Amino acid sequence: MNRNNIAAFFAVILWLSAASETLTSVDPPADLQVTDLGHLGPLQIRWKAPLSLTSKKLCAVRYMLSYCNVDSTNCKRVITKQLEYTDGFNLNKGIQVKLQTLVKEQCTNGTEQQSDWVETVYWPPMDGHADSKVRDLQCVVYNLEHMNCVWQNGMSAPYDIKYRLYYWHEDLQHTMECDNYIENQGTNVGCHFHSDDLIEFSDFNICINGSSAMGPVRPAYYTLQLQDLVKVAAPDLINLTSSRTETIYIQWKPPVSKIKAHCLKYEVQFHGKSSNWQSKIIPDPVTSTTLNMTANAMYCVRVRATVNMFCADESIWSDWSSIRCLTEHSDSDDDATKRNIFVELIVLTALVLFVLMVCFSSIYTWIRWKRLIAKKKPNMLLNDDIKDVTKNIYIDC
Ligand SMILES: *[C@@H]1O[C@H](CO)[C@@H](O)[C@H](O)[C@H]1NC(C)=O
Ligand SMILES: *[C@@H]1O[C@H](CO)[C@@H](O)[C@H](O)[C@H]1NC(C)=O
Ligand SMILES: *[C@@H]1O[C@H](CO)[C@@H](O)[C@H](O)[C@H]1NC(C)=O
Repeated sequence: MNRNNIAAFFAVILWLSAASETLTSVDPPADLQVTDLGHLGPLQIRWKAPLSLTSKKLCAVRYMLSYCNVDSTNCKRVITKQLEYTDGFNLNKGIQVKLQTLVKEQCTNGTEQQSDWVETVYWPPMDGHADSKVRDLQCVVYNLEHMNCVWQNGMSAPYDIKYRLYYWHEDLQHTMECDNYIENQGTNVGCHFHSDDLIEFSDFNICINGSSAMGPVRPAYYTLQLQDLVKVAAPDLINLTSSRTETIYIQWKPPVSKIKAHCLKYEVQFHGKSSNWQSKIIPDPVTSTTLNMTANAMYCVRVRATVNMFCADESIWSDWSSIRCLTEHSDSDDDATKRNIFVELIVLTALVLFVLMVCFSSIYTWIRWKRLIAKKKPNMLLNDDIKDVTKNIYIDC
């Protein structure tokens, strides 16, 4: 070590001891500001370190941020070392932001020091009457191919209202306006989105505002997670077979879509001749199942699909597949009955023929016997009498 180095070393030691002198109180952060980033939800919160701490470079300073909508008690709390924080917000209401300084042990007498809170409330622009704002936005993502969003006019929307939908997600530089409105009697009642706008597992922010000659229209804000709004196409029933052991084997094809087969689950419904639909949920992404049925029942089956819990928090059921019915079982039983009747008929006919044959042959034998007696004893009976008797017998039979 040369002199200069030694001097520098002592300088650092001196500065360190000055910096770590214990603090008895901490000031709150300065200049708290909330800025709308123009993305229909995200706000940036910024602040400056308290002046009293700017000289104490070695103190571990952190900030506790607490924020929520004005009437909410469910505030989020975040601890950060940075001087800014960005999150998505519900811009339909004012937003309350609270901030305090935290200083760790090295700069204090051993316990963590907390400053008082500084607080601000951010009010998004809220022009127009609350009842002019759209109601009841409903969005459905069909098969991950396109999305339709529809809304209801505000309760007291002016007759000449023209609603407009703007949206933003993280793949977009700036907000976009809907380029394919769904119209009803000249007013915009919805928007059709194409597949390149569909983004999953990320906020999809929507603002519906509007204009009217009667005055400003209150904007409505929504934040969607599109993977929770998916309605898949109906699956295809492809095989319905019954076995001798009275089980029905059902097989279907997953809907044709971009949704991965392992993200699906199914519901099979079936009913017998006189019963109502019964359900069987197939939780796994398998595409076949078996059912036990009672003998002689005609069974009808249909299947529908939805996204399972591993791929979305919520989901919408698809339409039902076409209904397929199984009739082979009862058919084969009918056939058997028909076969039995046929066999019985043959046996009966044969029996009747047999009886008739026995009858004729015994008469024939009796006549021959009579004639034989007549030949042997010609005096006992006249020829004419024999003839008469024969006639009678024939008639009797
Ligand atoms: C540190 O100082 C605070 C007040 O500044 C006091 O309440 C606390 O008891 C002190 N703790 C210790 C360990 O000295
Ligand atoms: C509606 O919102 C969009 C996006 O924030 C904005 O550019 C537009 O000026 C607004 N229109 C009205 C009439 O407020
Ligand atoms: C239907 O399933 C049965 C039982 O697994 C099988 O024997 C039959 O070949 C299948 N039929 C078709 C058309 O896939």
